[in-house]
Amino acid sequence: MNHDTHTPAAAGTPAAGGPAPAPAPAPDFRRSVVYQVYPRSFADSNGDGIGDLRGITEHLDHIAGLGVTDIWLSPVYASPNDDNGYDISDYRAIMPEFGTLEDFDELVAAARERGMRIIMDLVVNHTSDEHEWFRQSRSSRENPYRDYYIWRDPAGFRDDGTPIPPTNWVSCFSPSAWEWDEATGQFYLHFFSTKQPDLNWENPRVREEVYALMRFWLDRGVGGFRMDVINAISKGEEFVDDPRVSAGGRESSLYLVANGPRVHEFLQEMRREVLDHYDTITVGETPGTTVEDGLKYAGFARGELNMVFTFEHMMLDGNPEGYGKWWDGRVSLPALKQNLAHWQKGLEGRAWNSLYWNNHDQPRVVSRFGDDRPEYRVRSAAMLGTVLHMLCGTPYIYQGEEIGMTNVAFPELSDYDDIEQRNAYHQYVTDGGIFTHEQMMRYIAHRGRDNARTPMQWDASENAGFTSGTPWLRVNPNYPDINAAADRPDPHGVYQHYRRLIELRHRHEVIISGDFELLDPEDPHTFSYVRRLGEQTLLVTANVSDEDRALPFPVPEASGPFTLLNSNVDPAPEAPDQPLRPYEARIWLAG
Ligand code: GLC
Ligand code: CA
Repeated sequence: MNHDTHTPAAAGTPAAGGPAPAPAPAPDFRRSVVYQVYPRSFADSNGDGIGDLRGITEHLDHIAGLGVTDIWLSPVYASPNDDNGYDISDYRAIMPEFGTLEDFDELVAAARERGMRIIMDLVVNHTSDEHEWFRQSRSSRENPYRDYYIWRDPAGFRDDGTPIPPTNWVSCFSPSAWEWDEATGQFYLHFFSTKQPDLNWENPRVREEVYALMRFWLDRGVGGFRMDVINAISKGEEFVDDPRVSAGGRESSLYLVANGPRVHEFLQEMRREVLDHYDTITVGETPGTTVEDGLKYAGFARGELNMVFTFEHMMLDGNPEGYGKWWDGRVSLPALKQNLAHWQKGLEGRAWNSLYWNNHDQPRVVSRFGDDRPEYRVRSAAMLGTVLHMLCGTPYIYQGEEIGMTNVAFPELSDYDDIEQRNAYHQYVTDGGIFTHEQMMRYIAHRGRDNARTPMQWDASENAGFTSGTPWLRVNPNYPDINAAADRPDPHGVYQHYRRLIELRHRHEVIISGDFELLDPEDPHTFSYVRRLGEQTLLVTANVSDEDRALPFPVPEASGPFTLLNSNVDPAPEAPDQPLRPYEARIWLAG
């Protein structure tokens, strides 16, 4: 007899027929900490140079060791990889390069054994043009799938007979958001590459298809979704020209259709139809979203999403002349802090924040907002972790961030892979003549997406232990010095620092629920704030520079003396008002 499963009823347990035991409380998404895996670049288990599901399963202890609750996988569905999986050709199949559905099930189970859930990337603003729906849709105007996508007649024809697109909209990855289909004589809309046609969410059948595929994965045990550009799904029905493009602008017109007329209705429908029936965590990727929009998407009582990714703090170091993100200037620290504070205060008590420095679309934060010179790399990476993780919201860690991986600067354009970088090079150098080759290579090294996509650096062996074959994208040459095998066991390394930050979050309610106040909004060198909950005051002070700095404010009042919870520079400070050493970050608790 198995005594674990047949425990006799203890004294005081209600007899059969008594009141039913209270159901276990649902896991609270506010307590989650998420680790993002970009599968192509994480770990290759079979030597073909491409990361895969088994590679992830083999490295789960690295992730679990941090104390995270969820793993978000960038897309693993079947895809021709025009945009590395963000162009899906079959929502119910795994990309063969990544493995099989069985491998996927194993990953879900192995993660669950370690107390973690798998979050899928839901890419349903668009599909691949190789998806069966689109093959059908483009086959004739009468096909039942025609209305799954957004087709429009040309605005007219030029003298030479070429059709004029319905509007002047610019796509994120190509000059026009409209692609001409010769066979059926109409244009289709694509806000990303020509191989990523936008779905028509006005069509209820499209929405039902999406809800069905979500159930497919939830029934397989996934714990939720990160929803790709989900705020662009409602485009309205009347399309007008983009005034910025008319004025000579070159940035994408996506903002025009962001947060469209029916987006909240669609998301509420999705919650009723799907999400309410499962225990999930949801986060929407929502470019062009303000605090006011965030309150709608992620409001506690609105029944839409748990949280959204704001882009505002990621756009503060863009090109000052309006050429998108392509630039190599530093962010203004006051602007960065004030924006984060604006979201902290704006959502406080009413909606939930996501917290991130990195993802597969952003350069490496230690190079961008920190200092990746050898003497300061670890310290500044840890400092950035501290100031982010003590904020109110769900922290997201992107693979490699936890070991302080840096940007890369490859010598040739052909060393890179990303479609966005290639397109931008054409737009601004080859066709536009706006930047020189040298300038653009510098901007790519600062801001390009491939900074995040170079293979994960596991150890000092060839190709950083990522693959025994030839990696699909070159490894950052700094891997002999920067890798998980070296960093993880080091008590002063980045990994152990992140692990301690997450442990603090799991232990102290003030980090989850405390309110927020920024202490040094104008100071160009420090980043400090307090979180308060009842008698407790959590004080975070950080130096975002390479010189000693005094606190530019008096130590805030608290109900008792401050004790140090965490710091990243030895010897540990004795009092909060001691000057901060270069890139030092401290966490104090009183009460
Ligand atoms: C999102 C993804 C990005 C992708 C785009 C199109 O922004 O994060 O990687 O290229 O959507 O799906
Ligand atoms: Ca592989």
